[in-house]
Amino acid sequence: MKMLFILCALMLSGIAQAAPFSSGDAIAGKQFFEQNKCNRCHVQKMGGDGSAIFTRPNRIVNTPKQMIARFHYCSEASGIKLTPADEQNVGAFLNQTYYKFK
Ligand code: HEC
Repeated sequence: MKMLFILCALMLSGIAQAAPFSSGDAIAGKQFFEQNKCNRCHVQKMGGDGSAIFTRPNRIVNTPKQMIARFHYCSEASGIKLTPADEQNVGAFLNQTYYKFK
């Protein structure tokens, strides 16, 4: 019985440590990002390569949670509609390509 409990606890901790945005689809996220021209303001800010905003040394997103918060900020500023599924997809794309949060 005790063994079963330990086994369950191990399994649950495994779920809790699942990779961030593991339910997201990075390919769909990339499509969403491009279709909605997410980089248009980032290009202006960074001058040229908009994606450099995700790897700049003083970047403002340092956790998956901050990334979602930033999505809300950017989408509200620009009128881009982002569903919870889109958030997971774009998060998976940006995390796999730039942020690499574990
Ligand atoms: C209206 C202009 C605008 C649009 C459109 C926009 N963003 Fe942004 N975004 C910004 C600005 C400005 C910053 C930098 C804010 C700062 O440095 O304080 C930023 C920063 C970010 C960051 C954080 C970068 C870092 O420093 O780690 C992420 C992530 C991000 N944007 C995602 C998105 C996504 C995803 C979309 C499309 C759904 C999007 N943005 C569309 C203006 C925009």
